[in-house]
Amino acid sequence: GHPASLKISNRSYLSDDFTNVTPKILSHLERNLLNEEGHPLNLLKRRIVDFFYNQFKGHMGNPVFSIYDRLPPVVSVQQNFDSLLIPKDHVSRSKSDCYYVNREHLLRAHTTAHQAELVGMGLDNFLVFGDVYRRDEVDRTHYPVFHQADALRLRTPGQLSNLAGDKVTVFEGRSGKETPEKQAEHSMDATKLMESELKATLVGLAQALFGKDIRYRWVDVYFPFTHPSWELEVHFNGDWLEVLGCGITRHDILKSAGAPGTIGWAFGLGLERLAMLLYDIPDIRLFWSKDTGFLSQFKGKAPSDAIRYRPLSVYPQCYNDVSFWLPQDGIFQPNDFHELAREIGGDILEQIELKDDFTHPKTGRRSLCYRMTYRHLEKTLTQEEVNIIHKAICDKATETLGIVVR
Ligand code: PHE
Repeated sequence: GHPASLKISNRSYLSDDFTNVTPKILSHLERNLLNEEGHPLNLLKRRIVDFFYNQFKGHMGNPVFSIYDRLPPVVSVQQNFDSLLIPKDHVSRSKSDCYYVNREHLLRAHTTAHQAELVGMGLDNFLVFGDVYRRDEVDRTHYPVFHQADALRLRTPGQLSNLAGDKVTVFEGRSGKETPEKQAEHSMDATKLMESELKATLVGLAQALFGKDIRYRWVDVYFPFTHPSWELEVHFNGDWLEVLGCGITRHDILKSAGAPGTIGWAFGLGLERLAMLLYDIPDIRLFWSKDTGFLSQFKGKAPSDAIRYRPLSVYPQCYNDVSFWLPQDGIFQPNDFHELAREIGGDILEQIELKDDFTHPKTGRRSLCYRMTYRHLEKTLTQEEVNIIHKAICDKATETLGIVVR
């Protein structure tokens, strides 16, 4: 059982059948890595802010974008999903993907959760930085808490006409149709102007971070809250890497939020991903390290400094396999196992890989085999230490998930 009431950032929430936040997850709320001077995520945040301040200046040389980097991570289901037109039955709402505080509140799964509210406050150009929470797999690039930056830029027909140097009609009226290129409410001209400013801004940002010579490409994608929508992919050592999602904000979102006379572009990106590439950080768990061997390599640096992280030494991995039968009733969520293992293994658990998925031909019972890789970031683990943790994970899974270890 969960306690009847949960205290998070000085507010109380009643728990219910949706509650699945854990003390370990909640302990991340206190770290505030984005605002820790000289932390790699703080350096990257400041680089992005500097880029926007330079790129978008008002008449007096003043910054146009406002920055929000301290919005508390507990948001309502309305903020995280409904306000962004995410369908009621969308998979991203499920308990196996999110950390719910209760039926009404969750730890934000993206910083886009604040978009409608900030538009409602009258803001037209803003960046939001924050910690976000998603139940996911365990490996070198995934961690249940990570950080995102989101931006929104709104334009009135007058502003867009100034940009174009000619009168631009933004809204189509009732006869407008949605096509792959635009929303029903918007004109093609206005959409194309917004699209080109959005893409130029993001290519400029990618070049400011990774250099003028990067290779990039745009991929058409789908988000419930933008149309059209794209992903920017950048070429890194032989691979195309997705670095951000973006698009033209759905007119209904702006209308409901109180800005019906504007058209907007928005994007969201994951900071760890970028910081790992930018600073050569090999493992996402390192961002949470309190070890000076990690932190000292960034302390005292300026956002514009070139930094290459050098691992002090690499400690050996240990792995143990576990095979188990799934519960007879068939209810087993892999994310539940990943999370339970992470709760017990902590940051020592480096990776969980599915090695085998077998269904018995006669009985129909299904069995999974996982390889659990353990590695301490700061010391060598002995096999005995690993065995104790591994056994604790198997015992807890047997007790709470109804599996039977083979
Ligand atoms: N919220 C999206 C994500 O987490 C990113 C995004 C933000 C896409 C804004 C479009 C516009 O993947």
